[in-house]
Amino acid sequence: MTVEAGSVSSPPTGINTSKDNIKSSSTLRLEPATVSDVEQLVDVWYAAFGPTLDGLFPDTPGVRQWWNDAHRNDMLNTPFQQYVKVIDAAGDGKPIAWAKWDFSTAAERGRRFPPWHEDCDTELCSRFFDTLETERERLLGGKKNYYLDMLATRPEHGRRGAGSMLVQWGCDVADKDGVPAYIDASKAGAPLYKKFGFEDKSEPGIGVPDIVPMVREPKPRG
Ligand SMILES: CC(C)(COP(=O)(O)OP(=O)(O)OC[C@H]1O[C@@H](n2cnc3c(N)ncnc32)[C@H](O)[C@@H]1OP(=O)(O)O)[C@@H](O)C(=O)NCCC(=O)NCCS
Repeated sequence: MTVEAGSVSSPPTGINTSKDNIKSSSTLRLEPATVSDVEQLVDVWYAAFGPTLDGLFPDTPGVRQWWNDAHRNDMLNTPFQQYVKVIDAAGDGKPIAWAKWDFSTAAERGRRFPPWHEDCDTELCSRFFDTLETERERLLGGKKNYYLDMLATRPEHGRRGAGSMLVQWGCDVADKDGVPAYIDASKAGAPLYKKFGFEDKSEPGIGVPDIVPMVREPKPRG
């Protein structure tokens, strides 16, 4: 399904992306992210992860462009993947944090990324993401589940609750639909996810070192 640039795509399964599913706290505001935000989102992502990503996605102009294109494509063509951002209404209006929630299974979604950019270590990227996919399949294969695909907060805006707003948003959708949520958690993110009910499902000797597969069962609403 293709939608026009700048329009908000309709999720396929009745996911509510309207304002009543969007919570705000203090001067932080949660809003849908659009194609006009993409370069800022990539900037936040590199600022958040820093050099830890050099092996997979070195911060080169080519890889940034690759990310810009990949996100634009997903925003415009895969409405089951929803981008949400947090802005500080007291600031310059640029995103300070964002998340990509994917409301499809890996089988429904198909390939997660376009072909790797030549600046990336393509073998490492394939091995890394194939292993993550295998872990998701091990834990939730054959079962409908929602995936917190990406989450990043600009370090200077950390510990203000932006990450929590973005996690909460997707968990609310999962609870409304009665669907488990899944995340490949970084060490930095795992304590936060635990607060939302995600449980560590790692098994010694399998998966990706320092990445914690976490599952959250839906909570009954009301
Ligand atoms: C993980 C990450 C997304 C968290 O984002 P964040 O915006 O700082 O998240 P929050 O502010 O909601 O929560 C972070 C902590 O601050 C606390 N916090 C939230 N609001 C707060 C406030 N107003 N005052 C003080 N602390 C607060 C939270 O309880 C949480 O505590 P914890 O570390 O003990 O769990 C961010 O650190 C990041 O981008 N890290 C690098 C990239 C990464 O690892 N991404 C996750 C991939 S799975």
